Order: sequence, then C-alpha cells, then structure tokens
Amino acid sequence: MSQRSCLSVILAAGEGTRMKSAMPKVLHAIAGLPMVAHVVKAAEAAGATGLALVIGHGADEMRKAAQKFAPKADTFVQEKRLGTAHAVLAAREAISKGYDDILVMFGDTPLIDAQALAAARQKLAEGAAVAVIGFRPPNPAGYGRLIEKGGRLVAIREEKDCSDEEKKIGFCNAGMMAVAGKHALRLLDKVGNKNAKGEFYLTDIVEIASAEGLDVVATEASFENALGINNRAELAEAEAIWQARRRREAMLSGVTLIAPETVYFSHDTEIGADTIVEPNVWFGPGVRIASGAKIHAFSHIEGATIASNCDVGPFARLRPGADLRHKAKVGNFCEVKQATIEEGAKVNHLTYIGDARVGAAANIGAGTITCNYDGYSKFFTDIGEGAFVGSNSALVAPVSIGKGGYIGSGSVITESVPDDALAFGRARQKTIPGKGKELRERFASAAAARKKAAAE
Ligand code: UD1
Ligand code: CA
Repeated sequence: MSQRSCLSVILAAGEGTRMKSAMPKVLHAIAGLPMVAHVVKAAEAAGATGLALVIGHGADEMRKAAQKFAPKADTFVQEKRLGTAHAVLAAREAISKGYDDILVMFGDTPLIDAQALAAARQKLAEGAAVAVIGFRPPNPAGYGRLIEKGGRLVAIREEKDCSDEEKKIGFCNAGMMAVAGKHALRLLDKVGNKNAKGEFYLTDIVEIASAEGLDVVATEASFENALGINNRAELAEAEAIWQARRRREAMLSGVTLIAPETVYFSHDTEIGADTIVEPNVWFGPGVRIASGAKIHAFSHIEGATIASNCDVGPFARLRPGADLRHKAKVGNFCEVKQATIEEGAKVNHLTYIGDARVGAAANIGAGTITCNYDGYSKFFTDIGEGAFVGSNSALVAPVSIGKGGYIGSGSVITESVPDDALAFGRARQKTIPGKGKELRERFASAAAARKKAAAE
C-alpha cells in the first residue's frame, strides 16, 4: 500500500459556535496540541503525502497556526458553508493533482487513529472506489446511517432524511472516508443538495458510486475514532480519552504510574522505562525523561530534559530549558528554568535556579536564589563542580562560583568566587550577654503601661 500516493483533505471550515470562543474550534488543544494537528498526525501516520486543509472561519489565524503543525499543507478557503461535499471540492486543485487515494477527514474529530485510516486505504488498494469508516455508537441519533444491501454499502442516509425503519440501524458513519483518486472529483461533482438540510453531502457519493456499479465498502472503527468535538465538554471528554490511551501506552512501555488517572501527558512527552511517576504530576510540552527517574508527587514539568536516575520533586517545578543530567536531584518547592543541573548535583529545598549551570556534585542549600534578572535583562550564574552554597544565599548574576567553592549561609554573592575559596557576604554576628533579658523586661513594662493608659 505504501507505494500508493495519498492526499488527506481535512475539513475545518465549520464555525464551531458552540465552543463560545474567539479562537477557531479546531485550534483548541488536546494534550497541548490543536485538535486539527492531531488529525494531521493521524493522516501522516496513515501514509498521507499531501495535505489539504479546508478552512473558513478565522482563516488567517488558521493559516498562521497551520504553519506550525502542518507547514506543508495547502490551505483552501470554503467561502460558504454548503456541506461536506462542497467543502471537499474547495480543495479541487489539490485533488486534481492525481493522487491514488483521497482521505477525507474532519478537523474536529481528533481521536481518529492511523489504523482506522489505513484500513480504509487498504480497501482502496483492494479495488474499492469508496471505503467509509463506520462505527456503532451507544446512541446513533444524529449520525448518518450506513444502508447495506446484500453485504454491500449502498447509501448513507443523514438522520434527518432517514425513514423510521432506517433510524433503527445502529451502524453509523464516522464521517471520514477514503475515496479512490481517479473517481473522487467525478463523484463529488454529481452530488446535489436535495435533502432536508439543503446541503451538498459528501455521504451522497456512496449512493452515486454504488449506482455506477463501483465497489463501495464500510470498515468498522471504535467509538472514539468518531468523537466529534462541538463544545468544551466534548473537548474535555476527548482529552480524557487521549490521556487514558497515553497512560496505558506509557505503562505498557515500562513506566510505573502509581495513580495513572492523575498524571497528565503532553502530545510529545517522552518517558523512559523504569521511571516511576507518583500521583498528580503534570507534563507540559517538550519533556524528555530517560529511564530510571523518579518523579515525585505534585511536580509540574515542561520543556525539560531529565536524564537517567534523576530524582524530581515532590512539588518541583521544571520550566523550559531545565536540563537535569544523570542522577541530579531537584527537590521540594524548587524551580529550575533554563539551567543545567550536572551529574549528581543536588538542589533539594525551596530554591530558584534560573539561567545557570550547577556543576557536577555541587550542593545547593535550602532557599538559594539565583538573582538572574535586574528588571531589564537576564544574567548567568555559573556554579562549579563540587561547590557548596549555604542555605538562604542570593547569587546575584552575572556571577560565578569556582570549583569546590564554599559559600557561607545567608550570603549575598555579588562578586565571583575562585575555586576552593570560602566566601561570606553577610553581616558578622554580634552576641551581647544578658541583653536579651534586659530587652524583654523593657518591652513588658512598656506594654503594661500602654494597657493601663487605655483603661483610664
Ligand atoms: C457528518 C456526516 C454524518 C456522520 C457525522 C459523524 C455528512 C453529510 N454527514 O455529519 O453522516 O455521521 O459527520 O460525525 O458528511 N464542514 C465544512 N464545511 C461544510 C460543512 C462541514 O468544513 O460546509 C466540516 C465541519 O467543520 C466538520 C465536518 O465538516 O469538521 C463535518 O461537518 P458536520 O456539519 O459536523 O457534519 P455532521 O452533521 O456531524
Ligand atoms: Ca459533526
């Protein structure tokens, strides 16, 4: 099948008013990726070499977004929303390039999987002119019904045009279909709009092809494949299904999720075997985790690279550019941004490390802050291998601490510290014998005097 060329025509011209959003519906994200980008990914995984995106509402925004998730796609504007067949024909120019297979997909049906598409394409390879993806929803109301006669698909009837008898059919149209390229334009051009909604229905090509004596078939896919998103409740439902699939995939590939239903992945999260993820962990986009890491509860991680055997959290926040090397440790209430934590280094408690390097085996005490920003620009802090930074230190960047450098607790470090040096940047301690008691007596009598004055 791989030698057959394939164009995916993705319909995304619907207004999506029920999303109640200023943003086009299909740009709403699932796992951090616009739903239409999930559709593009599935098309590509099923072997689509060409992509045609049919847009309408919010065309400029759509084109701009498409540059990111489908830079090779051609976009076509469907000026008037006259039905799914009309929408496919907006991409006439792309279709007429002569692809073997045309895969029609919906931009608002993001959970379609590549296997379902590939199965439909396989039918074309075996000689079918049209292969419709069917499914059996728990409640068929609202879907087009697949009308079969003698084991052959002869028509798809939209709910509004169905007879009472036809409404009883449980096998429904998921919406997506594969059409042989050599027949596509001829069939689509024959579609009329004499139906209950007065629209040009893509589904009518089934009856047209069947009447021409062409081979028309239906494949069957699971319910999720057909889940169309119309409002934010359905968006959340799709997100939940996506997350459930991804968690399962992670676990089957050797990742332990102690409470899988509380761990959230992004579309691009990479996570190695023997990593353990505790409950309530969020992975934003751009996270790569090698094997054998431990991600403790309540950590929030995005744009971070975590090498093998690292220990993160609980309650850690890793922001973009955090790069943890083998066996590094970032503990509770620490934030790391645009910084490398080299092998075996420890950033254990209540610390902010931003725009920095923490050398191998260095130890960063509780409450350390890299002061990376002066309100205008960001500056770098370099902490050498094996350095020790005492608790509650402020490292005012740009600054560096040499290899093996030792910083006294509570320091404000504004000048670089050479290798193996000890640096303090704080007031010296003064101890006055008996003064504590004297102070307490003075404060107590002042308070008593105030109370007496108030009572008079
Ligand atoms: C469609 C199918 C129906 C199927 C159902 C599955 C047709 C005629 N009907 O119905 O058999 O059971 O999907 O969910 O195909 N679009 C455009 N331009 C248009 C019209 C639609 O771009 O002029 C896009 C929409 O944005 C959407 C997709 O095509 O992404 C499907 O259109 P929609 O109106 O939702 O079709 P359904 O009524 O759901
Ligand atoms: Ca729909």
